Amino acid sequence: MTQKSEIFSFFPSFLQVSEINGAEELNKMFMAGVEKVQATEPNTKPDSWACTVYTTINSPKILLEYEEFEPLRDIIMREATKFAKVMKFDLRKQPLILNECWLNVYGPSDSQEAHVHGNHVLSGNYYVKAPEGCGEFLLHSPYADTMFNPPYTEMNELNMTAAPIQPKDGLMLMFRSFLKHSVKPSQCKEQRVSISFNLTI
Ligand SMILES: [Fe+2]
Repeated sequence: MTQKSEIFSFFPSFLQVSEINGAEELNKMFMAGVEKVQATEPNTKPDSWACTVYTTINSPKILLEYEEFEPLRDIIMREATKFAKVMKFDLRKQPLILNECWLNVYGPSDSQEAHVHGNHVLSGNYYVKAPEGCGEFLLHSPYADTMFNPPYTEMNELNMTAAPIQPKDGLMLMFRSFLKHSVKPSQCKEQRVSISFNLTI
């Protein structure tokens, strides 16, 4: 006789995917900003990164200080607040603070190894330019390094070790900063342009 049993789903991982209104117009302005930034700011890719990518992650000037990127501040805060409310963050006690924002430009074959964003609560990406074939964003399972993997009859959201998201222009991703993520090598000739950000409390 079959005994009654139930499997509960505790501690899931979340990824918010938002299509930003008016992205086409915004991206024109952002691309003008990208040109300006690339012409003035050296690549500040840390030596510890094995990947190749142009990034302003360690630039002393926060990207949002450029007037071309100013509108992004409100968009990030709006999307982060939406995410935080679903997660029941008490924003009256600890409001979200957007304190890091930087540019990434991937050329052909450029990628980003798996990493987390330490000392932050929420992190995300906004895609200014994500042509077809550009590197997928991969969100890695927090269990990926600890799993003893049996053979599977199918892969799904219960057993996958990484979730791929194909970026597209005007998409914003939001996730908890401790979740490991990476970017697969870009398979297209055009540039893939993203803006990354971190929020703390
Ligand atoms: Fe990242």
